[in-house]
Amino acid sequence: MKKEHGFETKVIHGGYDSKDFLGSLTTPLFQTSTFTFDSAEQGEMRFAGKEDGYIYSRLGNPTVKALEDRIAQLEEGEAGLAFGSGMAAVSAVLIALTKANDHILCSRGVYGCTFGLLTMLEEKYNIQTDFSDMKTAEQIRSLIKPETSCIYIETPINPTMDLIDLELVSTVAKEYNIPVVVDNTFCSPYLQKPLTKGCDVVLHSATKYIGGHGDVVAGLLVGKQEFIQEVAMTTQKDIGGIISPFDAWLLLRGLKTLPVRLDRHCQNAEKIVAYLKDHPAVDKVYFPGDATNPDYDIMKKQMKQGGGLISFEIKGGKEEAQYILNQLRFIKMAVSLGDTETLIQHPATMTHSVVPEETRRRMGITDQLVRLSVGLEAWEDIWEDLKYALDQVTSANIQK
Ligand SMILES: Cc1ncc(COP(=O)(O)O)c(C=O)c1O
Repeated sequence: MKKEHGFETKVIHGGYDSKDFLGSLTTPLFQTSTFTFDSAEQGEMRFAGKEDGYIYSRLGNPTVKALEDRIAQLEEGEAGLAFGSGMAAVSAVLIALTKANDHILCSRGVYGCTFGLLTMLEEKYNIQTDFSDMKTAEQIRSLIKPETSCIYIETPINPTMDLIDLELVSTVAKEYNIPVVVDNTFCSPYLQKPLTKGCDVVLHSATKYIGGHGDVVAGLLVGKQEFIQEVAMTTQKDIGGIISPFDAWLLLRGLKTLPVRLDRHCQNAEKIVAYLKDHPAVDKVYFPGDATNPDYDIMKKQMKQGGGLISFEIKGGKEEAQYILNQLRFIKMAVSLGDTETLIQHPATMTHSVVPEETRRRMGITDQLVRLSVGLEAWEDIWEDLKYALDQVTSANIQK
């Protein structure tokens, strides 16, 4: 694959050459747990790292390798690594970068289970985390401590859609030689490439836009060769959160249509935002691609388009939010995102229910906040269903 090939070409061809696999157009599925050796000496050489070749699928597998090479090309990084879930990638990275008594600087909000992991690291190893919106260099500098061993960012932040300026954070982090890790799940490399903004490590819940069809749970990681190798041989190999070859195969297939799908997700989301903003039952709409969003300049700097996720606050509280979810007829109530189907969820009681109430409020996750992952259906149908539910809450007048 030539480096200068376009993104749309790399999603299809990156990391795979049919000449290496008997001309098979699609990447073959190596559904095997282990690989045979021709001789005892060959086995010895492979374990000693003196001969290339596969040993055991927890240590490497050709289908998985094609995926790892492809995501590395797409994120413009040196090497990639695949995991059995997004959380397996998050935990492998955070454990690799920290030791007892270290400090992590984290974006103001993060996915609920990432928050759960940070809490566990604090309880077990006294690794403290400070949360910040990281709006200025001074603010970031003021939170860095001698024991800060990593800066961990989600942008857009799940589910409030606040943005963090990746260039700003990576520039400050370089002054202190602290690695910056970015969870790029909400964008995928099609919309945002954190490594090109000076960040060091990118990870994904590939369950979302990368897989794109709601049929696989997986994680991906990209960074410098040396770091990826270190994770592969420690927190991945020994904790073992690897991906199955079949799931890697599904992701290779999903990736081929990523740009086409995302263009449509983004277009549909823009249409829905315009209507949502005008509905009397809606109080606030959070969408990075909205020109009135306070973070719009950051979005223009680092994202290709506004993405396919919208959060909005209903007038009222939890009761009204749940009422709306219950009125929907074809939009599915489910806690994932990036699928072909439009999905809706209530973060305070679902994805972020593990976050203590006070912290949740500080993160901006109110009881009336609803998160919508706009799918690939006709946008008119999505809006019709949403409007129906919103109209119901307006006429039911259950707001207190
Ligand atoms: C932003 C973000 N990061 C990480 C994860 C965890 O990924 P997974 O569910 O694949 O373990 C999620 C899951 O929803 C997520 O939304």
